[in-house]
Amino acid sequence: MKLYNGPQIIVGLVIFLAIFTYPLWSGAGKAAPVPKPQPVPKSVATQCVADTAYMRTSHMTLLNYWRDEVVRDGDRLYVSASGKTFNMSLSNTCFECHTSKVKFCDQCHNYLAISPFCWDCHLTPKEKK
Ligand code: HEC
Ligand code: HEC
Ligand code: HEC
Repeated sequence: MKLYNGPQIIVGLVIFLAIFTYPLWSGAGKAAPVPKPQPVPKSVATQCVADTAYMRTSHMTLLNYWRDEVVRDGDRLYVSASGKTFNMSLSNTCFECHTSKVKFCDQCHNYLAISPFCWDCHLTPKEKK
């Protein structure tokens, strides 16, 4: 038999094996990894603008409240339960401590397959290298 087709046969075999064994090396069948939002370094802050458990479930409610206060009442200062004062701003305040939208917000939102439309208008915070 003439082996002039040798290289093509080998390429074909490799592709076949790759497809055939795909489930073995792709991790298929495992659950999607739980999101790991980047923690805030202790040197930056130890507390969020509200209780962490509240923030985890209800940050959107707080953001809506902030928006209403600013847009309807022109009030820009928020005093947290711990007595700290914050500027009620999505793009400026949240990202002072949560420095990466990609590594923080998007971690959870991608997992949930949601993408809040806020960034249609609000400045997307710059990702630091
Ligand atoms: C159609 C454009 C638009 C969209 C979409 C939008 N906003 Fe706004 N938002 C504004 C404008 C305009 C202001 C007033 C800006 C100001 O006075 O500083 C504002 C103000 C705010 C403020 C207070 C001021 C500040 O600098 O953050 C918050 C908080 C806020 N929006 C949250 C949100 C959230 C959360 C979403 C998404 C769920 C959202 N917005 C979507 C236009 C938009
Ligand atoms: C002063 C710094 C600071 C600011 C400003 C801040 N956060 Fe936080 N945030 C924290 C800290 C510290 C935690 C505790 C968890 C941690 O270590 O990451 C936290 C926790 C959270 C959590 C829960 C995370 C989790 O792992 O379950 C969410 C969601 C959150 N913040 C959203 C926001 C949003 C939205 C804003 C703006 C309205 C904001 N944060 C502003 C410091 C801050
Ligand atoms: C610990 C996970 C987690 C983190 C971190 C997180 N989110 Fe969320 N976010 C959620 C969940 C859960 C929802 C609710 C989804 C739903 O209602 O279907 C949500 C919803 C929202 C909504 C409302 C979207 C809508 O269309 O109604 C906004 C606005 C929002 N997040 C902003 C932020 C911002 C800004 C950050 C980063 C500063 C952030 N989130 C970080 C879990 C998170």
